[in-house]
Amino acid sequence: MKQNVVIMGGGIIGLSCAFELQKRGHRVTLLEIGRCGGQASGAAAGMLAPYSENLEEPDPFFQLCLDSLRLYPAWQAEVKQASGQSFEYSNSGSLYAVYHEADILALEGRLLWQREFGSTGCIVEGTTLRQIEPGISDEVRAALYTPEESHIYAPHYVQALEQACRNAGVRIFEHLESVDIVDWHQGQPQELKGEIVVKSKDGRKFTAERLVICSGAWARELSGTLDLAIPIYPIRGQICAYHNSLHTVRGMVFNNQGYVVAKENSTIVCGASEDIAGFDTSVTVKGIERLRKWNKRLFPFLEGENPFHQWAGLRPSTQDGRPLLGTVEGSNRIVFAAGHYRNGILLSPVTARIVADVIEGHELPGYYSAFAPARFR
Ligand code: FAD
Ligand code: GLY
Repeated sequence: MKQNVVIMGGGIIGLSCAFELQKRGHRVTLLEIGRCGGQASGAAAGMLAPYSENLEEPDPFFQLCLDSLRLYPAWQAEVKQASGQSFEYSNSGSLYAVYHEADILALEGRLLWQREFGSTGCIVEGTTLRQIEPGISDEVRAALYTPEESHIYAPHYVQALEQACRNAGVRIFEHLESVDIVDWHQGQPQELKGEIVVKSKDGRKFTAERLVICSGAWARELSGTLDLAIPIYPIRGQICAYHNSLHTVRGMVFNNQGYVVAKENSTIVCGASEDIAGFDTSVTVKGIERLRKWNKRLFPFLEGENPFHQWAGLRPSTQDGRPLLGTVEGSNRIVFAAGHYRNGILLSPVTARIVADVIEGHELPGYYSAFAPARFR
């Protein structure tokens, strides 16, 4: 049965859920207190890197990330087609660089389990490594090369997704300043529960059969209203960009302190700090200096360069680093899709699919229970 769905939040997660639900024939309204993509999603480096971001073990979170990576080729093509807009999607592969002989053992251990999950990666050193990244520092002893990883230009991807939503018929309201849940029929038996009502600051009311919470780092504000533990906290990421006019950096390179990604527009994006700074999105001298120190250990030519752009965004982090996906206790009409921390861009297609499947009552993948909002009861 087609439903009337309201989505709170116009970041990559809210827009992805809106696009998928509208495509499946539901009637979707998306409410955003600021500008769509104006927070974490527009600030992201756009790496689609489940292997490099999950170093320890193939847990349910890694599986979720991998499933999403595999949805990307078709998903991004669909967003391009539906929006009529283009954005960079680069199958660059990635390198994870180490500086000491002893660290190669850890790379080998990682490669062993990652190969069981589709990686065709290998350890590269010497000339092979320098053929892939000629400008990489001589200090780098070896790297784990993962051809499956890719990246996207996040600000353009978000814009295209917003356009795709509009073209598909999603009603989008921006700059609402505040959006609150007024009534969700708490405590009533399920069969008597009516529509959920949310209200924006200007007094407009929106009613929904289903409400999807995609408010990123701000989702915890609903703890009181929903009488629920929502342990989502903002973790600031400071990030910067340099010119790459000589194409000295070719792909995507990680070390244990950060990453450097070459973009099609002849820039490189270097990130990112992890700061506890509340909802402050300013950049600090200390934060950018730390990035510069680590960037030049990967690419020495950066020693003499100054970033031409510096910015920051707030990652929505949960207590266990995993997102909250699914309905809340006490109402199957409220669905959470928040807390994607470092991987919201990567996780956008799989999140959209899970949310739409939850709303339509379909069976979900087995690992999905690891993300149930009730785990923080
Ligand atoms: P957001 O983009 O923050 O969107 C939430 C939206 O909800 C905001 O627009 C906000 O205004 C709105 N909102 C808040 N309260 C309300 C309300 N009550 N009603 C309506 N709207 C509301 N991820 C990757 O996968 N790859 C990367 O390479 C990567 N790099 C990153 C680099 C940096 C520096 C940062 C900061 C993050 C990075 N991330 C990356 C993480 C990624 O950006 C986030 O996980 C993702 O953007 C979260 O998306 P979201 O839609 O949940 O949150
Ligand atoms: N995933 C990269 C970051 O969050 O900085």
